Order: sequence, then structure tokens, then C-alpha cells
Amino acid sequence: MESLNLIGRKSLVTGGASGIGKAAAAMFVSLGASVVIADLDRDSADRAAADTGATGAVAGDVSNPVDAARIVDSAVAQMGGLDAVFHCAGIHRLGAAMEQDIETWQHVMDVNVRGTQLICSLAAKHMHPQGGGAMVVVTSIAGYNGQPRRSAYGTSKAAVAYLARCFATEWGQFGIRVNAIAPGYVLTPMAKSIIDSGATDANRIIGRTPLGRLAEPAEIARTAAFLLSDWASYITGAELFVDGGWAAYGGSAEVNTF
Ligand code: NAI
Repeated sequence: MESLNLIGRKSLVTGGASGIGKAAAAMFVSLGASVVIADLDRDSADRAAADTGATGAVAGDVSNPVDAARIVDSAVAQMGGLDAVFHCAGIHRLGAAMEQDIETWQHVMDVNVRGTQLICSLAAKHMHPQGGGAMVVVTSIAGYNGQPRRSAYGTSKAAVAYLARCFATEWGQFGIRVNAIAPGYVLTPMAKSIIDSGATDANRIIGRTPLGRLAEPAEIARTAAFLLSDWASYITGAELFVDGGWAAYGGSAEVNTF
């Protein structure tokens, strides 16, 4: 079999102006894909497209139905079709459940869950008549086990994991594969802002991570490239943890003290 590649794949990367999405856009281009980057702010999306060698960019809010349709339509128009979606746009908010502002909770649900529903279902409508395609959405270790102060974020990511399984079972008959990546802590602006705010202690995370470090964005991007490529041709409905072993560990102290 050929080496892993994305040659000729017309690929939409949402949240592609920053962090994991931007790293993925660059990696997909290096593997031969055409890429359109979607993000909230047009200038940031354009800059990321220039930095990564992407074909183009489009601005919009993935949770807004009009914007989501414009994002998908624009990607199709700029590339002449759509074969692959890496839906990476997402937000994180921390808040004690008893004090949780319900508007903030709803905002997290809207961006993370409604945005996934909109982008993936709109993309599937383009992929269905062309005979198939592949999508990858991003969940989190926070959607897997209970974590304090994440009643919004963790719930939203558990829902995104469900959506990936639901879409995979509904669209398999159309040749559309849908998988999820559940990252651990990845060194992106999102994770850095949580660590810098003091809400999370990086050394304690590292201490309970079997591989003993945080992830680089490129490590998540590589996994997305694999799941979107033909190397993953029989994988659908999976949630692949890319977390250095974080979710596998259930001990009561730092992992490497045993
Ligand atoms: P980031 O904050 O660096 O990038 C996220 C991008 O999504 C930003 O460019 C932002 O403008 C865009 N975005 C946010 N809301 C949007 C909306 N409504 N419409 C369109 N674009 C929007 O974050 P990062 O770390 O790269 O996160 C990417 C994904 O990975 C997110 O879904 C996040 O929940 C997930 N994740 C990140 C982890 C981490 O440790 N960094 C861990 C687990 C999951």
C-alpha cells in the first residue's frame, strides 16, 4: 500500500486559525491536500491560510446555521468539492457547577455541540452525492471521566463523542466515515490560557500522564491525518484517545511513583 497521504483531498479545517487546527492545516497541506481554513475572524483565518499554504479561508461562527452553511459552501466553492472535514473549532470554559452561569454553559454547548451538528451534517450533504468522504471531530479526556468545574465543557465533549458515533452509524451506508479524537492536554493557546490562569497545574497533569509530558499540536494533527486518510478506510465511529495514556490511568497518585 502507498505511504500515508492526503493527495488531492479537498479538506475543510474549522478552528484552523490557531492551535491544533492550524497545525493540522499545515500537515494536511504537506500530505498533498487542498485545505480551506474556517475560523471566527477573517484576518486570523487569512493569516493562517498564508502560514500553512492552505488554498483559502472563510470566516464564520460554526454554531450559527447561516455561517455554518456559508463555511461549508465556501469550502466547496474554493476547492471544487469536499472530501474531508477536520472539525476542530471549540471553546473551553471552567466553572463550579453550583455557580455555573447558565448563559456561559449554553454558549459552550452551542459552539461545541451545535457547531458539530451543523458543520458535519452540512458537509455530509455534499459528501453523500459524491459517494463518500471522511470527518474527524475533537472531543476531550474531559468528556470521558468526571472532572470538577467542567459541567459545561465535559458535557459538551461527551455529546460530541456521541454525535461521532451517531453520524458514523447513519452515514456509513453513504461511504462517509466519522471518527473522534480525544486529546489530553495539548500545548495550544487554549491549554496555555488554562494553565497560565492557575486553574490547572501543568506539573500535576504531567505527573499523572504515563508518557510524562503534554502533547504537541502536531501529534493530534498526525492522528487526524491518519483518520482522514485511506489508511483508516475501515475505521468509523471510533474515539481515539491521544492523551499520553491519561485516560487509561486510574491510580491514586502520580503514575510514575509505583
Ligand atoms: P485554540 O483556542 O487554540 O483554537 C480553537 C480555534 O477555534 C480558535 O482559532 C477559535 O477562534 C476557533 N473557534 C472558537 N469558537 C469558534 C466558533 N464559534 N466558530 C468558529 N471558530 C471558532 O484551541 P485548541 O487547543 O487548538 O483546541 C482545538 C480543539 O481541541 C477544541 O475543540 C478543543 O476543545 C479541543 N481540545 C483541546 C485540548 C487542549 O489541551 N488544547 C484538549 C482536548 C480537546
